[in-house]
Amino acid sequence: MKVLILQNQKQAVKKVFEIIIKELKKKPKLNLGLATGKTMVPLYKLLSKNTTLRNVKTFNLDEYISKENLMRKFMQKHLFKKSKIKEENIYFPNKKNPREYDTLIKKLKGIDVQILGIGTNGHIAFNEPGSSFKSKTRKIKLSSTTIRDNSLSFHSKKEIPKYALTMGLSTIMKSKKIILLATGKSKAEAIAKTIQSKSSIKVPASILQKHKNTTIILDKDAASKMKRSK
Ligand code: GLP
Repeated sequence: MKVLILQNQKQAVKKVFEIIIKELKKKPKLNLGLATGKTMVPLYKLLSKNTTLRNVKTFNLDEYISKENLMRKFMQKHLFKKSKIKEENIYFPNKKNPREYDTLIKKLKGIDVQILGIGTNGHIAFNEPGSSFKSKTRKIKLSSTTIRDNSLSFHSKKEIPKYALTMGLSTIMKSKKIILLATGKSKAEAIAKTIQSKSSIKVPASILQKHKNTTIILDKDAASKMKRSK
């Protein structure tokens, strides 16, 4: 696991953007895994302004169980509407048969680059603490921390559903390359545990310690609770 600590949020976002651009140059038909959340908004702004993404396939990590498809709406607003990604190349987990998502990803030759954010409780996608490291795409009950955080952050006043569909931890781990972006003080504790504690289901993101090609990109605030090595 590689950890990069950048001066500020802008620099951290730029770094992730540059990595995606480099991967797109190598492989224009990239299978790109996408995350929602306010951390991703500046990244999607850069991506929609500076590249076409015409040939990519996108795989979102999760979706709330509600009629409104809040995650899809979020993506529509911040990226899809402004980019040239083809409608038929946009994928989300499917409520009727969540496990089909794993089969589909496999059939389409896997995710090349998976972008991740992190919850304040260390979740990735919606894999809440206690999720099995072997988990596949499934329905999950959200923790009260997640519901509170998300209603405060990226969904403003909208009521947050209590259940969601999430890509599983084992599904995420199959991605060839993973980039986790975390910015701001609210993520500092989760980041310290993810990187410096023993890998455990109490902190789902700590599974990434076992992945061969993961880069964690932080600003100074998100890195502020990490213990310095002597
Ligand atoms: C949600 C998403 C996660 C995301 C997290 C952090 O819970 N399911 O994928 O990492 O929010 O969101 P934010 O960037 O708003 O802090």
